[in-house]
Formats: sequence, C-alpha cells, structure tokens
Amino acid sequence: MSQKIRIGVIGAGSISESHLGAYAKNPEVELVAICDLNEERARAKAEKYNIPNVYTDYNKLLEDGSIDAVSVCTWNNSHAPISIAALNAGKNVLCEKPLCKTVEEAFEVEAAVKKSGKTLQVGFVRRYASNTRIVKEFMENGDLGEIYYAKASCIRRFGNPGGWFADTERSGGGPIIDIGVHVIDLCWYLMGRPKVKTISGNTYKKLGNRSHIQNLAQYRAADYTPDANNVEDMANALIRFENGASLLVDVSFTLHAKKDEITVKMYGDKGGVELEPELSFITEKYNTILNIDPQINNKGFDFIAGFQDEIDHFIDMCFGRKETLSPVEDGVEMMKILCGIYESAEKGTEISF
Ligand SMILES: NC(=O)c1ccc[n+]([C@@H]2O[C@H](COP(=O)([O-])OP(=O)(O)OC[C@H]3O[C@@H](n4cnc5c(N)ncnc54)[C@H](O)[C@@H]3O)[C@@H](O)[C@H]2O)c1
Repeated sequence: MSQKIRIGVIGAGSISESHLGAYAKNPEVELVAICDLNEERARAKAEKYNIPNVYTDYNKLLEDGSIDAVSVCTWNNSHAPISIAALNAGKNVLCEKPLCKTVEEAFEVEAAVKKSGKTLQVGFVRRYASNTRIVKEFMENGDLGEIYYAKASCIRRFGNPGGWFADTERSGGGPIIDIGVHVIDLCWYLMGRPKVKTISGNTYKKLGNRSHIQNLAQYRAADYTPDANNVEDMANALIRFENGASLLVDVSFTLHAKKDEITVKMYGDKGGVELEPELSFITEKYNTILNIDPQINNKGFDFIAGFQDEIDHFIDMCFGRKETLSPVEDGVEMMKILCGIYESAEKGTEISF
C-alpha cells in the first residue's frame, strides 16, 4: 500500500464538500479522482481541491488500480451498485447513509464486502461525533444502567429539498430514510444494537412540498422543481426490541410545527441522557436528582468536526489501525428498520421480525 491512501470521490454534490474538505485536511490522504454524472460539478470540485482525474462514469474511476478507497456521495439509488463495483475492484468504501434503498440491496452489498475482503464503512457520521463518544463511554461503564427507552425527533417545518430527495425512485423515501436514519441509528447504536422485534409506523402525505410558501428561505436540491414530489411529509414509529427496550421516533420534511427541532433522548435505570440538541446527563445521588452539564467544546452535533472524525477513522481503517465503527452489517440492520417502518405504514399494522 502506498504511503498515502489514494482516494476517489464519487458524487460531487452538497455532501461531497464535507468529504473532500476532511480528506484535504488529513495528511495521509491523496485526493486523486472525482466523478459525477454532471461533469461541470465534478470539474468545479477538481479545481477547488486540486484533483487530477475527473470522470462522469464511476466504472472508469474504479479501473484506476492505484486508488485505494472511495467515498460514495451519490443519490441513494446508486449507493448499492457503486459500492458493489468498488468492492469488486478491491477498494475500501465509505458509503453515505442510507446504505441503499432496500433490504435486498443491503444483503447484496454485505455479500460483496464478504467476498472482497474489503471494508465498507456506512456514513453514520453521528457515531463518530465527540458527544456520541462521550455518551458511549458513560454507557459502557454502566453509569446509565440498562437503556430501556429512547426518543428521537427530527422535525423540519418547511424543509423538503425537492429534486432527487423528493423522488422515491432515486431516494427510497422521504424524511424517514433521509434524516430519520441519523437519529434512529444513533439511538440503536448507543442502545447496544438490540435485535428488532416489532415496528409500528405511520407515514403521512398531507402537505406536499409546499412550493407555494413565500417569505421563508429553504434549502433546495440542485434539480428542484416545484411540481415533483412523491415522498412522505412526515412519519412516526414505535420500534420494539427483543430485549424489551423501545424507541419512539418522529420526523418530517414539512409539518405545521412552530419551529425545526432535533432531539435525541435516552433513558436507563440509573440515568438518562440528552444528546441533541445539547449533551446533558440526568441522574440521582444521595436521594437528590441531578442534571449534569458536561463542559465540552461541542455540546451538540458539530457537522465539520463530525465529518473530520468520520473520515480520519476511515483512513485509519484503510491503514489497518482501527476497525470501522459503522460496518456494513449495521447498514443492513438499519435498512430493515427503515423499510420496516414504510412496510408497517403501508399495511396499516404492526409488523414482526
Ligand atoms: N451524512 C450526512 O449528514 C448527509 C447529509 C447530506 C446528504 N447525505 C447523503 O449524501 C448523498 C448525496 O446527497 P447530496 O446532498 O450531496 O445530494 P446532491 O444532489 O447535492 O449530490 C449528489 C450528486 O450525485 C451525483 N450522482 C448521482 N448519481 C450518480 C452516479 N451514478 N454517478 C456519478 N454521480 C452521480 C449527482 O449528479 C449529484 O451531483 C445522499 O445519499 C444523502 O443521503 C448525507
């Protein structure tokens, strides 16, 4: 293996900036190739990050035997085929969340990982964040006891990005698969990855993309068009695990809510923790209830630092110094949960595993 890990980035849209910026700051990385269906977008990133090779076909990028690893930053519908092709070409893969669109595809990616002997790290960036690491240490040392209930919410009141995000064919769904995946995974990971037993989910398509709204700014995908949207506006779910623990989640792209909100709270028999919006522990001592306020740099999720930690960990993994914190098996389990929520909502009944 070369002295530096030689990286190719596939997909040169919004999130590629977070990958490229973090790779550029890692002294053990050489950015050698970038690819996007949209050549102009790929060329702009190549110029900014001084990347010598530009492609519009990812297969061509993967033919470069000197590339050690790739980031997959494309629409969700291409995560599985690109990751499988990259693994078959002998590359380690950092694939953005969600792993893919369906459970069947997830199994195919997992099989490709096993066959290739390479590693696929799923882009569950919140697992790498400093506040998650702090909570994990408290939990592993038993400070919170047994976690039996978690509650996560990721509410956008006016935040359907449109474009591919609003096209089920390319995204696999709306807020559950796009933003719900982060908070569901965070809870599941910290709860010790328990086996799912049942899921009861609801999805709603009541408000549409609200393209008529004026006077309020909104992030829009590059290919936003006001008339195209077939994903859910909001969803909720109760997930019950085999160990008796449960997770309650609600998410939205749009909702008549007063403000945007992200909360992640977990409750154990010795203490509780709020990870979002700000890290805080709750416990009792000598018959008195305490709220504990950690003195740390980032009380919430710091986007830039989180991506740096995720990318640095991926590079350490490529050198064989660390194992990934978000292996393909966890991506598969997460697809079972996300698709299970959609299945339960569609059937109008609880589903069992
Ligand atoms: N971890 C996070 O916090 C986070 C945040 C945003 C997005 N994401 C994920 O990152 C991925 C990309 O999202 P985005 O916001 O950057 O979208 P985007 O639309 O800004 O960029 C996606 C890019 O992928 C390109 N693309 C699509 N299919 C391709 C293919 N087959 N080959 C080459 N290029 C292809 C598109 O042309 C586009 O430029 C999604 O899977 C999304 O879920 C993760």
